Amino acid sequence: MTLSLSKRSARIEQAEIRAMSIECEKAGGVNLAQGACDTLVPRSIREEAHRGIENGTNSYTRFDGLAQLREAIARKIYQYNGIQADPETDIVVSAGSTGAFYCACLALLDPGDEVILFEPYYGYHVNTLLAVEAVPRYAKLQPPHWSFAIDELERITNSRTKAIVVNTPGNPSGKVFSRTELESIAEFATRHDLFVFTDEIYEYFLYDDRSHVSPGSLDGLAERTITISGFSKTFSITGWRIGYSVSSAQWAKRIGYMNDLIYVCAPSPLQYGVAIGLSQLDDSFYQELAREYARKRDRICEVLEQVGLRAYIPQGAYYVLADVSSLPGKNSKERSNGLAGTNRRG
Ligand SMILES: Cc1ncc(COP(=O)(O)O)c(C=O)c1O
Repeated sequence: MTLSLSKRSARIEQAEIRAMSIECEKAGGVNLAQGACDTLVPRSIREEAHRGIENGTNSYTRFDGLAQLREAIARKIYQYNGIQADPETDIVVSAGSTGAFYCACLALLDPGDEVILFEPYYGYHVNTLLAVEAVPRYAKLQPPHWSFAIDELERITNSRTKAIVVNTPGNPSGKVFSRTELESIAEFATRHDLFVFTDEIYEYFLYDDRSHVSPGSLDGLAERTITISGFSKTFSITGWRIGYSVSSAQWAKRIGYMNDLIYVCAPSPLQYGVAIGLSQLDDSFYQELAREYARKRDRICEVLEQVGLRAYIPQGAYYVLADVSSLPGKNSKERSNGLAGTNRRG
């Protein structure tokens, strides 16, 4: 048989977090690998989605999302993120922020284009780039503060570099990029004429009085920034698959065409639910969300310290990186498998 996989397909491995979840289930362990939300979905959102189904609003929406959802996102992104967006032309509602990022990469990157990512990175960002045959290049974030050097960005930049990905708050580092850091990235991206793809899915998960700065709100960056976020985490609806990108109309139009091609639209009745949530929930909802996750962060970090795994205290998002060098094994995968083995025997 001469049939074979595409070269593209052979480059994509199963996402590590999915593989770890499967291993964890086999070992009967507690799954700390995959980001699962456990807060209650706000009642107004559940009821409106339900009403959407009952009222028969079950057909396709416009390819870039329901008008009321795009309008609600435009209000939110102006008030919270400081970005002005026209709901008619600049917003594409997609199948989660994952879908939004994939569509943006398809619309804006060619095979061979290089894209800078900060390391540690979120694995889906890398795999999405590989799927569109772009080439990831890595700039190190240095613990404990996850600082980076513009010199390193300069060193890995060349004439093929087309974009940089900024995930703030970041998975898995928990880094919240400061305004000063983002301004230096903005200057760098402008000087090298790069797109800035953001991933702001954890924009409300902020600790110790930190605030979220959206790269797209910085001077001169609006035109080249594709601001990506979604509602999976904020509203605890990871399975609903509702996210979005915001960008200038010239990019949004093409990103929207890709979204139409791949997803046609995001799930219709669920868009109604999210639109109501965005319009009705006030600041106190988002503040309480951050307080609740801060309590959980403190608890898990304390436990990690108690068992001898020094934790880097996350500034935002809901992941914790810990120093596992005291455990047996050559790398973190072997060390976590060792832990799972211990659990299976014990
Ligand atoms: C950094 C980051 N971006 C995106 C996602 C997925 O978001 P969505 O459900 O909106 O596709 C996750 C989920 O773990 C994530 O950690």
